[in-house]
Amino acid sequence: MMEENKYTVTAALPYANGPLHLGHIAGVYLPADIFVRFLRMKKEDVVFVCASDEHGAAITLRAKKEKTTPQEIVDKYHEINKKAFEDFGIEFDIYSRTSNEIHHQTASDYFKVLNEKGSFIKKTTEQYYDEEFKQFLADRYITGECPNCHNENAYGDQCEKCGSALSPEDLINPISTLSGKTPILKETSHWFLPMDQHEDWLRTWITEGKLDGVQQHDPKLWRNQVNGQCMSWIDGGLHPRAMTRDLDWGVKVPVEGADGKVLYVWLDAPIGYISATKEWAATQNKKWEDYWTGDAKLVHFIGKDNIVFHAIIFPILLKEHGGLILPDNVPAYEFLNLEGDKFSTSRNWAVWLHEYLHENPDKIDELKYVLTAIAPESKDAEFTWKEYQARINNELADVLGNFVNRAIVLTHKYFEAKVPSRNELLAIDLEVINQLKSFPEKIEDLLRRYKIREAQSEALNLARLGNKYLAETEPWKLAKTDMNRVETILNIALQITANLTLILAPFLPQKAKKIASFLNYNESDWNQAGSIDLLPDNHALDKNKPSILISKIEDEFVAKQIEKLEASKMENQTTTFPPQKELTQFDDFMKMDIRVGEILTAEKVKKADKLLKLTVDTGVDKRTVVSGIAEHYSPEDVIGKKVSILMNLAPRKIRGVESQGMILMAENSEGKLSFVSPEEGFETGAEIR
Ligand code: MF3
Ligand code: ZN
Repeated sequence: MMEENKYTVTAALPYANGPLHLGHIAGVYLPADIFVRFLRMKKEDVVFVCASDEHGAAITLRAKKEKTTPQEIVDKYHEINKKAFEDFGIEFDIYSRTSNEIHHQTASDYFKVLNEKGSFIKKTTEQYYDEEFKQFLADRYITGECPNCHNENAYGDQCEKCGSALSPEDLINPISTLSGKTPILKETSHWFLPMDQHEDWLRTWITEGKLDGVQQHDPKLWRNQVNGQCMSWIDGGLHPRAMTRDLDWGVKVPVEGADGKVLYVWLDAPIGYISATKEWAATQNKKWEDYWTGDAKLVHFIGKDNIVFHAIIFPILLKEHGGLILPDNVPAYEFLNLEGDKFSTSRNWAVWLHEYLHENPDKIDELKYVLTAIAPESKDAEFTWKEYQARINNELADVLGNFVNRAIVLTHKYFEAKVPSRNELLAIDLEVINQLKSFPEKIEDLLRRYKIREAQSEALNLARLGNKYLAETEPWKLAKTDMNRVETILNIALQITANLTLILAPFLPQKAKKIASFLNYNESDWNQAGSIDLLPDNHALDKNKPSILISKIEDEFVAKQIEKLEASKMENQTTTFPPQKELTQFDDFMKMDIRVGEILTAEKVKKADKLLKLTVDTGVDKRTVVSGIAEHYSPEDVIGKKVSILMNLAPRKIRGVESQGMILMAENSEGKLSFVSPEEGFETGAEIR
C-alpha cells in the first residue's frame, strides 16, 4: 500500500447574501475543484470542504435592503448557491452552512478554549455608535475613506479596493451605513486578539515556512501577492483586533454576561472549515482530526480580499488553539473583471452562474475552460464574451475537438472501430511518444505549484501534439498505399486520445468522460498517464460514430449575451439614481442665473485632492470658481471647455479661496462626472433656462 498524503482543501465560504457570479468561480471555486480532482486522481486522501457563510453584516445588511429577515436571506441564497455549485460540477465533499448546530457548537467551543487559555484580552473601548439606530457600528455597518488607498467606500473591517484589513477607527470620515450619519463614540467591552504579540513567529512562519524551528511549508510556493500583503501588514505593525461584536445575528459569545454579543464573523467563518470537516467525517466513518492534525496539509483557496484573514488571523487562532495544523498554502486569486468593468452585485453587472447554467446546461466544460484560461492567478483579468467565443472555437473545438474526432473517425473508417497495432516505429513516432511521456509530470508539477492556468494550457498542448502528428503523417493519404503505417499512426493517435481522458479530467471532467465513452475506455488513475499502452491492440471503441465534442459558439450567441448585459445595466441605472425631488415653483427656478461659461485657467488647490481653482469667462465677467472635480479632470483637460455655470450662487470661501459660482456637473451611476456643455459653437454668456 502506497502511503497517501492527507489533504484538507478549503474554498472560501461564500456569503449567502447573493448569487455567485463568474468572478467568484474563476478566482476560487474552479481552481480549487481542479486541484482536488487532480489529487483524487493521484489517490491522495483529500477532503474538499465549503459552506455558506451565513453570519456577519454582509447578511444582515442585505436583509435590511431586501426588507426581510437574515434567516430568509441565508435560506434563499444557500439553496441557490449550493445548487449552482452542484450543477457546475464543483465537487465539494460537503457544502455546509455556518447556521448549522454543529458549527455553532464548534465555534463556541473553540472560543471557550482560547478564552480559557488567555488568548484574548477583554477591553472596554469607545466604538462608533449610531444614535438613530441604537447600534454599534463595526465592519460593513460603517464606511469611510481607506487610510491606505483613499478609496472612499472602504468598510469598517476591510477595504475591498486595496485588500487591507481595517478597523472602524482607521477610516477617514466614517459614516454609518444605517443612517448615513456621522456616528458618535460610546463605550462597550469586547474580546480582543492581541495580534501584536504574534508578529515574531508569523514573520518567520511566512517568510521561511518555519514554526518553532520546524519546517512547515515551502515559502517559495506561496504566491508573491500573499507574502507581500502579509509582510506589509506585519511590517506596518499588528494591532489587537476585536473578536466579538454587539449584534444579535451570529454565534453567541459563550461566556456569562455577554448578552447581545456574538463572535466576529471572521472568527466564526474559518472555523466553519473545521465544522464542515466534522460533519462530513461523521457521515464517512472517518475522524475529522486526521485532516486537521499531524502531517495533513491544509490548503485555502481564496480571493485576494481574504488574504490577511487566512494567512494571519486564522493561523493565529489555529496556533493558539494548539494541536491543529496551519495552512500549507493559501493560493489567493486576484479579481476578474467583466467586459471592461468590475463585477458588481449592486449594479447587476455580472454573469450569474446559476443563470448561465440554466441557459447553457450543455456548455459547462466550455465555461470551465475559458475561466481557467483567463484565471486571475497573478494579476487581475477580464472576461469578455468575445474571448469566450474565440477560446472555445479556436482552442477547444479546433484543437481538441478536431484531433479527437479525426483519430476516432479514421479508426472507424479503416479498422472497424478496433485499435490497430503499432508496427515498426519511425523517428517521428518515437519523438511523439517521447513527448507524450513528459506531459503528466509537467502538468502535475504545475498543479502542485498552483499554476492551474498554465497546467490547463499544457494539457491542451497534448491535443495540439496529436493534431500536429496527424497533420504531418497524413494517414488518410497513406491509406491508399501503406496500411501498415496507418495502423501505427492511428494506434499512437488513439493512445494520445486515451491519455487526454486522464490529463483533461481535472479541468474538463465532462469532456474527458465523453472522449472516454467514444473510446470505450474508463480509467481515472493519474499515474497511468504518459503511457503509450493504455489501449490494448484490438480494443473495441464504442461502435457508434462519435458525436460532436465541442460545438462552436455562433456570433449571435455572443451578441445576445452582450445585449443581455447591457440591458441589465440600463434597467439597473434607472433604479440606482435618486427619486425625483420635491416640486419647485417656476418663479423659484427662474431665480437661478445659469449661463454658458468657458474655463480659461485651471490649477490644483494645495492640500485638497478634490479641488480645482478655475477662472471662468461668463460672457459678462471673468471670475474665480472652486470646483470639486480634481479627481476626474486634470487642469489641462478642462482649459477651454464650455460649461454650465450657476452665476448667482452666494460666494463661498473654500480652502481660503473665494468661489463665485458653481460649475454644474452630471454624475452617472458609478460616480463619474461630466460637464454639461452646449453644442459646438455656442457662445459664452448664453443663458440656460
Ligand atoms: N464570506 C467571506 C467572503 O466572501 C469569506 C469567508 S472565508 C472563511 O469574503 F474563511 F471565513 F470562511
Ligand atoms: Zn484601500
